[in-house]
Order: sequence, then C-alpha cells, then structure tokens
Amino acid sequence: MASTHTIVSGMRPTGPLHLGHYFGVLKNWTALQEEHHCYFFVADWHALTSEYAYPKSIQPFAHELVIDWISGGLDPNKCTFFQQSAIKEHAELNLILSMITPLGWLERNPTYKEVKQELVAKDLNTFGFLGYPVLMSADILMYQATMVPVGQDQLPHLELCREIARRFNGLYGHFFPEPRSQLTQAPKTPGLDGRKMSKSYGNSIFLMEDPAELKTKIMSMLTDTARQRLKDPGSPENCNLFPYLQLLDPNSDFQEIRRGCTRAERGCVECKKLLLTQMDSFLESMRRIRLDLEKHPDTVRDILKQGTERARRQAVLNMERIREMIAF
Ligand code: TRP
Repeated sequence: MASTHTIVSGMRPTGPLHLGHYFGVLKNWTALQEEHHCYFFVADWHALTSEYAYPKSIQPFAHELVIDWISGGLDPNKCTFFQQSAIKEHAELNLILSMITPLGWLERNPTYKEVKQELVAKDLNTFGFLGYPVLMSADILMYQATMVPVGQDQLPHLELCREIARRFNGLYGHFFPEPRSQLTQAPKTPGLDGRKMSKSYGNSIFLMEDPAELKTKIMSMLTDTARQRLKDPGSPENCNLFPYLQLLDPNSDFQEIRRGCTRAERGCVECKKLLLTQMDSFLESMRRIRLDLEKHPDTVRDILKQGTERARRQAVLNMERIREMIAF
C-alpha cells in the first residue's frame, strides 16, 4: 500500500485560473486529496512579493481562487484550505529560518534569477523577493510536510527548502522531514497561440470563461499555418488545436481525425467545432459549481475560515515545539 503523505501546496492569488493551472496543478491536487493529508493554501504573502505596489488587487483574487479550486474539483471536506497571511506563525517561522539561510543559497537560485529577469517592469530588488523560498519553506515545514506537488519552475525552491530543513535539524535537533517534490505527469498546456499558456501572454482559456468568449477564442485559433486551403494536407503535430483535443480526451488515438487532416478530407472548422463542444461541456460542470458558490459568498468565506482555523491549530502546536528547540 502506498504510504500516506502530509502534503502542502499553495497558489498565489494573482488572477483567475486557466487551463494551464488546471492540467498542470489542480487536477493533480484533486487526485492527491483522495489519499493524503492535504493542506492547500492561498499564498497571499507570496503574491505581495511581486504585487506590493498594488496590494488591493490581492484579496479579491484570494476569494476567487477558492472558488476556482472547488469548481475544479477540490473538496474542502477532504483537504484543508487556508490563507497564509491569516496564520502569523508562518511569519515567525520565516524569520527563524531566515537566520540559518545563507545568502549565497538564495542568490544562486535559478528561479530567482529567471523571474527577476522576466519581470523587469517590477522592481524585484527587495529583501522579500530574495527571501521568497524561505517563506515557502516556512509554509511547507510548518506542517512537517513530506511531499509537495509543484510545477517544474518551483523545484529550485523546494531544493532550498530541503537544505534549510537539513540545516535546522543539524543545528537544533531533528524536527522537519525533508519534503520531496511531486511533479505532475501532464505535459505543458499550450496557450491558444502555441506558446506556454500564461495570463501575461493573453493566450489563456480560463476556468471561468463564458461560453461566448470561449467560442470566439476557439474559432479564431490558428491551426496548421502551412495548410492554407482545405485541399492542402495538414499535420496535427503542427496544429495548435490538436493538443487540446488530446488533453480533453487522453485515451483516444484520434485515428479518424489524423487521417482526415493528413489526407485533406477534414477541415479545420470541423475540428474547432469539435473542440468547442468538448471544451464547453468540460467547463460547464465547473460553471455550475461556480454559479452556486457565487450566489453564496459566505459559504466560501466559511470554508476558508474553518480550514484556516484547523491549519492554525497545527501551526501553533508546531511553533511551540520549534521555539522550545531553539530555547526561546
Ligand atoms: N511559489 C508557489 C507558486 O508560485 C506558491 C507557493 C508558496 C507554494 N508557498 C508554497 C507552493 C509552498 C508549494 C509549497 O506556485
């Protein structure tokens, strides 16, 4: 029997979730909630590291994020949802861990360097941003997590977390397990234009996408650009649409579609219509849950509040032990 893990993972509330988040992260979380003790949290302090100039934008997204989670299949009865900034113990553990984290570890972090180069519009030359992985380590170690499901870009942070845990254990006695990462099997979700799906590229399909908008987006997608007319044979491998059909129906080999496309018998509009139908029914079940939750904002608030209380109890307990270990 597979062993039960304590799992911690978070998302920054910086906007609505899109299919990239769903297939890359959320779908994986929904599977994990069946077997493990899961804490999933709104990383609003982490959002602040890059959004500090617009802090008011963060909290509305926190509420939306929980709606996205539940409509995407997370069950608050199976896992604990919480809000990072509501549990001040995270800040305290962050502080303690910062004392034992060498600057060099943080400065060498490849994700730190990459994001800083990418987001040139924001001044990320701050203490808080450099310390991003320390706060993340506090989130994880607080609950003595053994497994952390994350995307590829977060792996350097997790490696740092393990090093920090090792250092703490070496200095003060063993308390933290070294959490291992769990990467999603799913391939990267392409955006509507074939690049990686990202809010900043404007190439996303959101979980909360409305049907009319969805139709516009799908019908204007580029297919195989080398195929100018219906008479030209196409190639599914060079089509932006095809990976989506595969994502929505992973067990099909698409024999018929491949044949029709490569023999110039099947037109792209046909594929677009098929994708629209499938995508629409895929999003429809989420829409129904969302609509219900939007009518009852108190339900969402209560779920987050109850989860936060549950998580806080654990955090308070563990912080007491951590303080004892450093004789404070
Ligand atoms: N850095 C993560 C992201 O941007 C969010 C995050 C914050 C997180 N703390 C975490 C993920 C702890 C896993 C564990 O996706």
